Amino acid sequence: MSAARTLRVPGRHGYAAEFSPYLPGRLACAAAQHYGIAGCGTLLILDHSESGLRIFRSFDWNDGLFDVTWSENNEHVLVTCSGDGSLQLWDTAKATGPLQVYKEHTQEVYSVDWSQTRGEQLVVSGSWDQTVKVWDPTVEKSLCTFRGHESVIYSTIWSPHIPGCFASASDIVKASTSYSGSVANGRSENDKEKLVIQNLLVTGAVDCSLRGWDLRNVRQPVFELLGHTYAIRRVKFSPFHASVLASCSYDFTVRFWNFSKPDPLLETVEHHTEFTCGLDFSLQSPTQVADCSWDETIKIYDPACLTIPA
Ligand SMILES: *[C@@H]1O[C@H](CO)[C@@H](O)[C@H](O)[C@H]1NC(C)=O
Repeated sequence: MSAARTLRVPGRHGYAAEFSPYLPGRLACAAAQHYGIAGCGTLLILDHSESGLRIFRSFDWNDGLFDVTWSENNEHVLVTCSGDGSLQLWDTAKATGPLQVYKEHTQEVYSVDWSQTRGEQLVVSGSWDQTVKVWDPTVEKSLCTFRGHESVIYSTIWSPHIPGCFASASDIVKASTSYSGSVANGRSENDKEKLVIQNLLVTGAVDCSLRGWDLRNVRQPVFELLGHTYAIRRVKFSPFHASVLASCSYDFTVRFWNFSKPDPLLETVEHHTEFTCGLDFSLQSPTQVADCSWDETIKIYDPACLTIPA
């Protein structure tokens, strides 16, 4: 692995790292003071080049920020979510605070995602209040609220291909989800049955396992990846390599997997000294990855398993 470019952010514990879909090398990081238990939050906008990682902008919020998602129709805009139950819309072209605050959730909002399907501009949020809400960011109030989960919601993501479909992960799977290819599992207030279903969704769990699900038949997972030694915090599919995914964990590591291989663990990256919560693949470079940890660092690097052909 080539040397990671590291940015130290004293007093800020990283929760999410997301590459800009527009600008190569631009990364957003959602962070919280005091491990997110108390204190304020910070949204960092970073630029990465040969010379390293530097802060382009920094925005503070008066509660911890737990997740961030880039707009799919405006390169300057992002949405974050917070411990105080609110979502914030930020404009990186401006130096000051959020353009809009959306306050409906009654507890911590742990997950936020902007839809990628064409023609749709919707944000989905998942909260410890056990609800999922869908928002049109141009409207202050949510469009709809989804109930059905009986516990805290840790992850909500849109299907990258089917408009209007998202998955939400709660107690059963805890932690995190990522889609490969198409489709999702939607649940609505009026329609509690699981919808749609084809293709692959992966979940990361507190039991340290990653499981791939063919959503047409969820009786049993199509693959299981074992190796993490503490709960998995986030999981992402590579946008460039069909069967490659990465996961980060409370065991401090980031692991890279190829679920098509009999021995699927490609690499274990151990460059953090605390819970590793944020993780993303670059959308421009097939080899580049970013992560962030409660150890107050954000790293961009090119893991060997992606740079050296198998
Ligand atoms: C993943 O594994 C498959 C099957 O062994 C192989 O064809 C493919 O090249 C691998 N991809 C990467 C990026 O390692």
